[in-house]
Amino acid sequence: MVLGLALLAVIVVLVGLYLLFYGGFDGPIEWAMKGRTQRTLETQAKVVALTFDDGPDPVRTPALLDVLAEQRAPATFFVLGDAAEMHPGVIARIARDGHELGNHTYSHRYLPLARSRSVERELAQTDRAIATAAGVIPKVARPPWGGRRPGTVRAFARLAKRLVTWDVNSDDWKGAPADALVARVLERTRPGSIILMHEARTGGEVTIEAVRKLIPALRARGYELVTVSAGTQLA
Ligand code: NI
Repeated sequence: MVLGLALLAVIVVLVGLYLLFYGGFDGPIEWAMKGRTQRTLETQAKVVALTFDDGPDPVRTPALLDVLAEQRAPATFFVLGDAAEMHPGVIARIARDGHELGNHTYSHRYLPLARSRSVERELAQTDRAIATAAGVIPKVARPPWGGRRPGTVRAFARLAKRLVTWDVNSDDWKGAPADALVARVLERTRPGSIILMHEARTGGEVTIEAVRKLIPALRARGYELVTVSAGTQLA
């Protein structure tokens, strides 16, 4: 009896934690968030979006922008407000080069643990940093680690942000070599995929090298590269 109650309590706690700290995965409680998360471009067309989180970095992000310019490939950058304030010139170049800017919060907080008001402040501060640097206000935003709960989703909606996660995680931060990253992404990519990568981190050079190989490989398979918003409008 006591054991049964203890087990029940454990299950209730686990379900509660799952509901509260829901991350960037598909799950049965998506209904509670009214389906407002965009995980793919929601199209069967052979388009894919490369997305880069956690920048800008003053050295690595321009190096990646050089590769994207050489290959004439658009991408989407989910940048952090604090880094954007430190490196406004890089933010301006991202926009000038024809890429899309997305909001990745100001300080990369785990939003399920933040009050809705703090989430709104994180988004608004980042919008201001991006607008000051590049004169644009992002339409898309991505919560750090994909972490969200219903209150997070509502806060994004109040700031008129489309909440975008991903369906292909390159896992580039785990330190695999560039060829392994390319193979992993190609294996998982489907029409309409949104691919998650990180060029700004320590070791981001490997991600940049992978992108240099990935873009021609995707094109050889018939995929066109698009920004998240342009690809979604195609849907
Ligand atoms: Ni992030």
